[in-house]
Amino acid sequence: MQSHAPIGVFDSGSGGLTVARQLHKILPGENILYVGDMKRMPYGPREPQEIIKFMGQFLNFFTTKKVKLAIFACNTMTSWGYEKAIGNTVYPLVPMSTAVAEAAALSPHKTIGVIATEATVKKRFHADMAAKIDKDIRIYAVACPQFVTLIESGHINDLVLEKAAAYYMQNFTGKNIESLILGCTHYPIIKDILSKHIEVGIKLIDPAVSTIEKAVSVMQKNNMLNPAKTGGRMEFFFSSEPDHAAHMVKIVMGIDNPFINNIDLERFN
Ligand code: DGL
Repeated sequence: MQSHAPIGVFDSGSGGLTVARQLHKILPGENILYVGDMKRMPYGPREPQEIIKFMGQFLNFFTTKKVKLAIFACNTMTSWGYEKAIGNTVYPLVPMSTAVAEAAALSPHKTIGVIATEATVKKRFHADMAAKIDKDIRIYAVACPQFVTLIESGHINDLVLEKAAAYYMQNFTGKNIESLILGCTHYPIIKDILSKHIEVGIKLIDPAVSTIEKAVSVMQKNNMLNPAKTGGRMEFFFSSEPDHAAHMVKIVMGIDNPFINNIDLERFN
């Protein structure tokens, strides 16, 4: 596998850009191929079979692009699809991290809040991991179905979003959570608003950090790290709304006027 080949990063929409941003921050010499399915997002309310089918299309596309590694930048696809995808690709896969271990290390009473999509909460993605790590960890997982649609329709810093944030965050009142896992890759985009609506002192955890740590160790093990220390190329593919996609790339990754390629994921069955 060529070390200069791109790393595939994928999500239902623009949320996974928060993971691509972390990858670029840690390994600025790596070439990144980002794919977002703006046309069919949100995935959170979808049935598992559909989520798994869509995941397969991203992975088939990456095969045609000869990626050296693919990173799930989506908790929803990780929780329902990752285990099913293992062994079915010629390149290694890195799932989205639950970040439960990180959160537990920062939570002396092991009381952790999670916000995520409906599908991720339904799969008990974080709760099952917590049970594996330490049965004393308490997880309070809250599904926030409005957030992704709001973010993808431009409500990232306004009263509409404030209202939704206040509504969802009140679920944690009296639960004494010590940390809050942002269990959907869209949520770091609205981190500032979220922190306004939770008690001071609760630590917000972005699982992109441990996801990219894992990606680095997989690449080291497979001897596929790009020796370049800077100048990684970024390519963006979205299934619709190129102007909105470009705007989100600018907001999340700070790239001016990015070129947005169109992709019809349905062709990659
Ligand atoms: N960003 C995705 C996640 O991390 C999913 C958002 C959605 O399409 O519902 O779960």
